[in-house]
Amino acid sequence: MALVTTKDMFKKAYDGGYAIGAFNINNMEIIQAVTEACAEEKSPVILQVSSSAMKYAGKEYLMGMVNAAMETTGIDLALHLDHGASFEACKECIDAGFSSVMIDGSHASFEENIALTKKVVEYAHDKGVVVEGELGKLAGIEDEVNVSAEDASYTKPSEVEEFVSRTGVDSLAIAIGTSHGAFKFTGEAKLRFDILEEITKIMPGYPIVLHGASSIDEELVAKINACGGSMGGAKGIPEEMLRRAAASAVCKINMDSDLRIAMTAGIREIFTNKPEVFDPRNYLGNARKIIKEVVRHKLVNVLGSNGKA
Ligand code: G3H
Ligand code: 13P
Ligand code: ZN
Repeated sequence: MALVTTKDMFKKAYDGGYAIGAFNINNMEIIQAVTEACAEEKSPVILQVSSSAMKYAGKEYLMGMVNAAMETTGIDLALHLDHGASFEACKECIDAGFSSVMIDGSHASFEENIALTKKVVEYAHDKGVVVEGELGKLAGIEDEVNVSAEDASYTKPSEVEEFVSRTGVDSLAIAIGTSHGAFKFTGEAKLRFDILEEITKIMPGYPIVLHGASSIDEELVAKINACGGSMGGAKGIPEEMLRRAAASAVCKINMDSDLRIAMTAGIREIFTNKPEVFDPRNYLGNARKIIKEVVRHKLVNVLGSNGKA
């Protein structure tokens, strides 16, 4: 088995009106849970790694486990760098064998973002690797950087065509109201589908990416809180909004917080209900089981990517 790029995945997802789940991986249990759910549901998948994930687990460990998951499951799998902060960060992952990278120039000016993204695209394409760029700024916490709601800004549709044509980037993350983390809205959830539609009209057939797309399952949050946690006010993107996005030009939907919540709920449940347990396989095994259920639910009920591998 070899890693695949997202090119084919996105083409099929666009034409088929579904989206590919991009799940952040940080340890063995998450990798196993995600890939087993995808294998059982015959779904293509993107496993994505942030710089903090590499700092925590080590790139070699994560890649070794991804290889093992590919051998075991046999599904189409892309390995992607999430929020690459510099050319060097992207180059390191491209050289290491990732099949896809994101260069996140969203905090730079339009011109600087173009120059940086173009440089990564040239290097990546030469090695058969695809690149995701970003225009617009999401609110929330990513890689220890906290972007306040005031500093966030929606993607300007008028900039998209120029950005894509001048950089040659393969897919584009846009800001339409999603945000990173578990506390996305204080009031009602609202996404600017009008911006997405405008971009789709300008660039028909072009794959769009949604970051910050966890739904923050109320039952799991309640379980965490009932088992000694404190996550009051946690709120995510309603599933019907994600289904609407998946049926449109959105081909990649990023989820990390939902897996963190599943893992925390699984561990807290055992710690609270079985205080005598001290075997990590017991509470990590329960966490893995819950993550797998969450991923399966998303493939079948949100992304619609089941049966598409
Ligand atoms: O977009 C951010 C992802 O959830 C990764 O988070 O940098 O804490 O691993 P992290
Ligand atoms: P969530 O925090 O909504 O899971 O978003 C994750 C993400 O966008 C990773 O790039
Ligand atoms: Zn993100």
